[in-house]
Amino acid sequence: MNDEFLKRRQRLIHDIGKDSIAILASAPRLFRNSDVEVPYRQNSDFHYLTGFDEPEAIAVIAPGQDEGEFILFCREFDPLKALWTGHYAGTQGAKEHFLANQAHPIETLGERLPDLLMNRRRVYFLLGDGSEDLDKTIFNAVRRVRTRARTGVTAPYEFLALEHLLHEYRLRKSEREIELMDQAAQVSVEAHKKAMKASRPGMMEYEIEAVLLNEFNRKGMRAPAYPSIVAAGANACVLHYTENRSELKDGDLLLIDAGVENHSYASDITRTFPISGTFTEPQKQLYELVLKAQLAAIEIIKPGCLWNQPHDLAIAILTEGLIKLGLLIGERETLVKEEAYKRFYMHRTGHWLGMDVHDVGDYMTNGEWRSLEEGMVLTVEPGLYVPNDSDIDPCWWGIGIRIEDDVLVTQTGYRVLTAGLPKTVVEIESYMAG
Ligand code: GLY
Ligand code: MN
Ligand code: MN
Repeated sequence: MNDEFLKRRQRLIHDIGKDSIAILASAPRLFRNSDVEVPYRQNSDFHYLTGFDEPEAIAVIAPGQDEGEFILFCREFDPLKALWTGHYAGTQGAKEHFLANQAHPIETLGERLPDLLMNRRRVYFLLGDGSEDLDKTIFNAVRRVRTRARTGVTAPYEFLALEHLLHEYRLRKSEREIELMDQAAQVSVEAHKKAMKASRPGMMEYEIEAVLLNEFNRKGMRAPAYPSIVAAGANACVLHYTENRSELKDGDLLLIDAGVENHSYASDITRTFPISGTFTEPQKQLYELVLKAQLAAIEIIKPGCLWNQPHDLAIAILTEGLIKLGLLIGERETLVKEEAYKRFYMHRTGHWLGMDVHDVGDYMTNGEWRSLEEGMVLTVEPGLYVPNDSDIDPCWWGIGIRIEDDVLVTQTGYRVLTAGLPKTVVEIESYMAG
């Protein structure tokens, strides 16, 4: 993987040029209470460029720097500290294992930075990533360079958003990144299958969550990419439901939206299935409508397809189906224009997927929806959520359905990374019966 991190830094060095420098901070350590730390997760941009997953680190990419272009400021190794926290790289490890050309104790950043900034025109840094300490250190260092002006030294005078470049890189996945996402997808598929098999009336949502987490952990992937949603019955209509404390009732559906993270890469899958193993007629009708929209939206994915096309197609199909079922009254085009479907379908049909579950990258460029390109990964996740409103036939009340897969754009079309998980009514019912 070091080759890959090196290639990314070289690309950045090439793109920003010798009169620029890029500086970024690791994610802060977070505490849930008192001195109990939340499991550490590196900032995605920092990981993308360095592979160095420790806190209290600053990476500097300094094109053309004599002593080497990748400089890592990190915690110096202290065997007494390591006794409590476990091993960490230290400056020696930063050079040996992470290919830093130079590594220095983090405390020396302020005094070393002016020399690195000297005679450069632009500083690229992450805007709004919350590392105000680093922002202050950078601007103080710039001020110190200015005090040397009479010796002929110049200070940077352009400050740019590093993420503008990095997030474009991150949008197109390399072979190695796709491999990591494939692995995450496969483990998540297995976890969903086990959860589907385990579900029965009388169980609690958190028991099903435990099945998912157990499978993630068993495969050595220790963290979900986001809090798992295990939503029985009408809980599925709460889009970000994570309470997971209700009982699974006979006759209800169970919506599970869960995915594991693998070496910082996310998977994101939703399946909805009947707790007792058989769909009721109204559940089946709505399910098949969502499935029709999902399959059609996936089918048009290929390079050149505009970002919004799968969403627009899903909306058209869902609206048409809602009219047929009597949940919407009127003419399709008018209802789409008036966004009447939003009463039952209030979110978008997908998002970029990568290191972040809602991954970075612009969806529009120059005021237009962007075209899909080979190597991009997106989710396709239409849904329908029916409220218990008095003007709706009670047979539909509280039914919430979403079907979500992760899709890679290939040279000629697409590949569903999360294939192999039962999805049609027949597949689900026979899998659960088996
Ligand atoms: N699991 C978050 C999402 O589907 O967007
Ligand atoms: Mn999603
Ligand atoms: Mn999801």
